[in-house]
Amino acid sequence: MTASPQPVDPFDLVIFGGTGDLAVRKLLPALYHRFVDGQIPGSSRIIGVAREGLDDDGYRTTIRKALLEGGADASKVDTFLPQVSYRSLDARKDDGWDAFATLMGEQPNHVRVFYLSTSPDLFVDICNRLGSYGLNKGEARVVLEKPIGRNLASANQINDAVGRVFDESQTFRIDHYLGKETVQNLLALRFGNALFEPLWNAEHIDHVQITVAETLGVGQRVAYYDHAGALRDMVQNHILQLLCMVAMEPPSSLAPDAVRDEKLKVLRSLKPIDGGNAAQLTVRGQYRAGAADGQGVPGYLDELKDHKSNTETFTALKAEIANWRWAGVPFYLRTGKRLPERVSEIVVVFKEVPHSIFDPSAGVLAQNRLVLRLQPDENIKLWVTIKHPGPGGLRLRYVSLDMSFAEAFGVQQPDAYERLLLDVVRGNPTLFMRRDEVEAAWRWADPILAAWADSGETPRQYTSGTWGPSAAVALIERDGRNWYEDSE
Ligand code: BG6
Repeated sequence: MTASPQPVDPFDLVIFGGTGDLAVRKLLPALYHRFVDGQIPGSSRIIGVAREGLDDDGYRTTIRKALLEGGADASKVDTFLPQVSYRSLDARKDDGWDAFATLMGEQPNHVRVFYLSTSPDLFVDICNRLGSYGLNKGEARVVLEKPIGRNLASANQINDAVGRVFDESQTFRIDHYLGKETVQNLLALRFGNALFEPLWNAEHIDHVQITVAETLGVGQRVAYYDHAGALRDMVQNHILQLLCMVAMEPPSSLAPDAVRDEKLKVLRSLKPIDGGNAAQLTVRGQYRAGAADGQGVPGYLDELKDHKSNTETFTALKAEIANWRWAGVPFYLRTGKRLPERVSEIVVVFKEVPHSIFDPSAGVLAQNRLVLRLQPDENIKLWVTIKHPGPGGLRLRYVSLDMSFAEAFGVQQPDAYERLLLDVVRGNPTLFMRRDEVEAAWRWADPILAAWADSGETPRQYTSGTWGPSAAVALIERDGRNWYEDSE
């Protein structure tokens, strides 16, 4: 039986960008689920803020519709919605801010969370106003959605400006991949078992693959995405954070800085990729028209309604961590939109057995693989070689020892935001990025972006519904390896 989750203290949570896709599709549903589970006390307030001139009822109607579409129970939604309200505010104008400050002042002892789910160019204005209205005091916290800036310089500007209003201890830079169950399971698997850690190094691991594949295209988010691209949108944050969780040294405890110090060392040990080696170590692609889930879909440039964009919707990279544990072990990273399936997976591939005692007719010895699937259907599989049962000589079979979370625990995994939002309310930043981590990640990503821009080349086209440009296959096949696309 699963223990009931502990309720948090009552809080006020203000979502700037409250009518946006993230708020409506992810944040409000996450809060609803925690509310239904009894973790959010009734006197808490959830306040959506955006420029649109809506009232509370109008906002609740939007949220109600989104929750019901997501399968929520109508009567529970009706119990939840009175906690939700709306304020129309413009971060760049004073109108309405006095009244907003008064509203916030009504519950002075509550934890106050300001979630900035807006474009990063509004972060500074919003924080400055929160500061000038005295809303950064006491138990106030600010949550910054990624991407923080679009390179190191702009991330520094944002972090400096936010830092003038909120202390680092009040600042929660969210990366929702860190809230996914399987990612946290990496901590349990690596540091709660004696089995893996002795093998977790260059002596025993051949390489690591991290794939985050999506079937969706860019769709409505094209205006944001065209300024970002796959490297900024997924690699600089989510994929590097996954890489850190795989590669970091054992932290001394789960204390926030103990974990983050170790992740930072990994980020700082990444071998630079720049104009000198980007052509060998990176591939970028852009989807053209094709198929997704059996339906014809337009290409990226059609969605953009512009035929000139070098924004990559796919990237594959061969990264390396220059430290004593990992030197020489490639980390192949890959992410893209409009790929054949939605799957996020970390595959740790162990070295070949040094010598086979088996007759070649027994079958080929495959390398052991540990596969951590983040989504869909979270599971962990360990691929091993065994003897095929029964008479008929010794025949080898390659099979997986499976741990499916749904089967083992019979519960629906909570969305990452559910866990992370309550961590903010509790004031626990372990699963959030510290400023120096974000900077180290940009320090690695900036020269790649510069190399791509300087190359004068356009991204390679790939047909929607395929695994990206053929160069991504060549990137790994050159090393005598291949992508694991089917871990069944
Ligand atoms: C977001 C990116 O951070 O993560 C999106 O901006 C991407 O482009 C999304 O689609 C993927 O998240 P998830 O949880 O659906 O894998």
